[in-house]
Amino acid sequence: PKKVTTLTIRAKKRRNQKITMVTAYDYPSAVHVDRAGIDILLVGDSCAMVELGYETTQPMTLEQMLHHCRAAKRGAPDRPLLVGDMPFGTYEFMDSDVALRNAYRLVKEGGMDAVKFEGGSASRARAVRHVVEGGVAVMGHVGLLPQSISVVGGFRAQGRTAERAGQILEEALRLQDAGAFAVVLECIPSNVANIITDRLEIPTIGIGAGPHTSGQVLVFHDLLGMLSHPHHEEFVPKFCKKYASVGLAINEGLDSFRQDVEGGVFPGDGYSPYKMSAEETLRFE
Ligand code: KIV
Ligand code: NA
Repeated sequence: PKKVTTLTIRAKKRRNQKITMVTAYDYPSAVHVDRAGIDILLVGDSCAMVELGYETTQPMTLEQMLHHCRAAKRGAPDRPLLVGDMPFGTYEFMDSDVALRNAYRLVKEGGMDAVKFEGGSASRARAVRHVVEGGVAVMGHVGLLPQSISVVGGFRAQGRTAERAGQILEEALRLQDAGAFAVVLECIPSNVANIITDRLEIPTIGIGAGPHTSGQVLVFHDLLGMLSHPHHEEFVPKFCKKYASVGLAINEGLDSFRQDVEGGVFPGDGYSPYKMSAEETLRFE
């Protein structure tokens, strides 16, 4: 399998081929994302919410990210492009060296090929430029910025006024100028994403941004229905198509196991493979 690089991703936009990106946070999910032929594996800080049960992505630490990056890397060591999110509080400082130091950790200790930053302000773009100059490829991220939830007030669509849409376009252009190789567009109107995609040289990867982006990203747990259950509501974002209900299969398996054990059906003779010889049995019993 040929390794996907930032060049592969840029070439796909030029050839009008759609780019696929899915999150993964551990060994089995990374194995699945690799085997499915997804271009980019994102170890997203959405991990905080879907894997660790936090309400937001803000609590995620660099140490936790590294732990998940290493597991994902072991599951997909040589094909998809591996991108790791810079967690909240590890790259926003005026001193861009902090961002560079932490980006190096995601590459050297986490095994990532590239890192992702949220936001497109002038100071953020300075940090992106500094990290790219330091030799680490950076993916940008504009529109809804989950790490800024305490400023924004909630997880909701962005860029719905002409002014705000213009701002998001400016931010995306600024990130491109700073050396970002691609940019995520999160929760913005389709027409805005379309114009940004046209105006940018680098690819756009959309989530809740309509069909006109260079590629699409979804969160593993959301697209696969990991928390589907026969008697509990599952939260799935409006923009997310659910391609499976894996949670139903998990529930079925666990429920059958419980019933089998409680009913004396499992393990039975069929799953009790270790036998003692007649001679030893005689001596023992
Ligand atoms: O953390 C994440 O899953 C992300 C994607 C939604 C782009 O940043
Ligand atoms: Na993220």
